[in-house]
Amino acid sequence: MENFIFQNPTKLVFGKGQIAKLSELIPTNVNLMITFGGGSVKRNDVYRQVVEALDGREFIEFWGIEANPHVETLRKAIALGKEEKIDFLLAVGGGSVLDGTKLIAAGIAMEDEAWDIVLKGYAKKQIPFASVLTVPATGSEMNGGSVISRAETNEKFAFFGNNPQFSILDPEVCYTLSEHQVACGLSDAFTHVLEQYITTTGQSRLMDRWAEGILQSVVEIAPLLKKDPKNYDLNADYMLCATLALNDMIRMGITQDWTTHMIGHELTALHGTTHGHSLAIVMPAAMSVLRRQKNEKLLQYGERVFGITEGSENERVQKAIEATETFYRSLGLTTRLSEEGIGDETIEMITKRFNERGVAFGEKGNVTGDVAREILMACK
Ligand code: NZQ
Ligand code: ZN
Repeated sequence: MENFIFQNPTKLVFGKGQIAKLSELIPTNVNLMITFGGGSVKRNDVYRQVVEALDGREFIEFWGIEANPHVETLRKAIALGKEEKIDFLLAVGGGSVLDGTKLIAAGIAMEDEAWDIVLKGYAKKQIPFASVLTVPATGSEMNGGSVISRAETNEKFAFFGNNPQFSILDPEVCYTLSEHQVACGLSDAFTHVLEQYITTTGQSRLMDRWAEGILQSVVEIAPLLKKDPKNYDLNADYMLCATLALNDMIRMGITQDWTTHMIGHELTALHGTTHGHSLAIVMPAAMSVLRRQKNEKLLQYGERVFGITEGSENERVQKAIEATETFYRSLGLTTRLSEEGIGDETIEMITKRFNERGVAFGEKGNVTGDVAREILMACK
C-alpha cells in the first residue's frame, strides 16, 4: 500500500424529506446563488422543496446548466456571480449541475479565465458550495472533481478542487428518472469502482473488499430497480453506492486506471454519448486489451463478483469480461460503437488527439494513443 492522506470534508445529509434542512445547513450571512439545469426540478417537486426550505431567505437563481456542462454557459454564471457579489453556491441537480457549479465557484473566486482553470487541472481557490443531488451517478456530491465541456471545440476535460460543504441526498428524487437515466447512473457508479479496482492484486485487502461490496450491490439492485423503480430502499442503496463509488474511500493507498473514462469523455465530446453509456461501450474492450497485465485482478473479480470458478485461467478471465458486458447490456445499454453509429473516423480522431497530447493512462501509465486505438477497435 502506498502512503496516502484521506480527508473527505463533505457532510452527507441523507434520506426522505432532508431537503427541508437546507435553511440550517446554509450559513445565514451569505449572498446565495442557486444553480439549476433545464427544469426537471420544477417538474418533480425538488424546486418547491428547496424554495420552501429557504423560508423567505433571499437568493438569486441561475438556470440552464446543460448535461455535460459547457464552459460557454458557465462563463455567464461566473459573470453574474461576480456582479452580484455571490459568496455561496447551491447546486440543485445532477452531476452536470454540480460540476458546473464547481467551476462557477472557482471562476468567482479567481480572475483566471474559466477554460484556463479547466486546462490547468485544478482550482487554487473556490467560493464555498453545496448541493442537492438529483441523479445518483457521478459521485460529484462528495468529491472534488468536475468535468467540463467546451462546445466550440468538442473538448471535455476534468479539473479538481474543493468538495461540496454538504450534499443532500433524498432517494425519493430518483423516482422521476427514466430507465435509461438509471441505467447510465448504475453504469457510471459500477465503472468508477472498476477504474479503481481492476488493476493489480495484493495492494489492499480492505480496498478490494469495499470495491467488491459496491460492485455486488450494484449487480444485485440493478434488475430489482428495473422492476420496481419507485422502491425507496432500492433507490437508497443505488444512491449510496454511487456516492461511495467515487468519494476517495475505496482508493486509499492503491493504484488506479481511468483509461475507460478518458476514452469515454472523448466519445461524449465528439458524439454526445451519455457519460454512463460511453463507459459501458469502452470498459469491456479495455479489459480485453489489457487482460494480460490485469490477469490476476480479473480472476479475483470474476470469482468474487460473478462467482466464476470453473475453467482455465484464460477461460475464467474471458468469462469475467463477458459477464461485465452482459451486465451493462442487462441495464439496457448498448456496448458497441457500431450500435451507436460511431465509426473509424472517430477512432482515428481520438487516437490523433491522444497522440498529440502524449497521453499515458492507466495504472501502469502505458495506455498511449495507440493502445487506446486498440481498445476502440475492440469495441467496434
Ligand atoms: O437539466 P434538467 O432539466 O434538470 O434535466 C436533467 C438532465 O437532462 C435530468 N435530471 C436531473 N435530475 C432528474 C432528471 N430527470 C428526471 N428526474 C430527476 N431527478 O438529467 C439530466 C442531467 O443529467 P446529468 O447531470 O448530466 O447526469 P449525471 O449526474 O450522470 O452527470 C454527468 C456529468 O458528470 C460528469 C460526466 O462526465 C458528465 O459531464 N462526471 C463527473 C464526475 C465527477 N464530478 O466526479 C465523475 C464522472 O465520471 C463523470 O465524468
Ligand atoms: Zn464516470
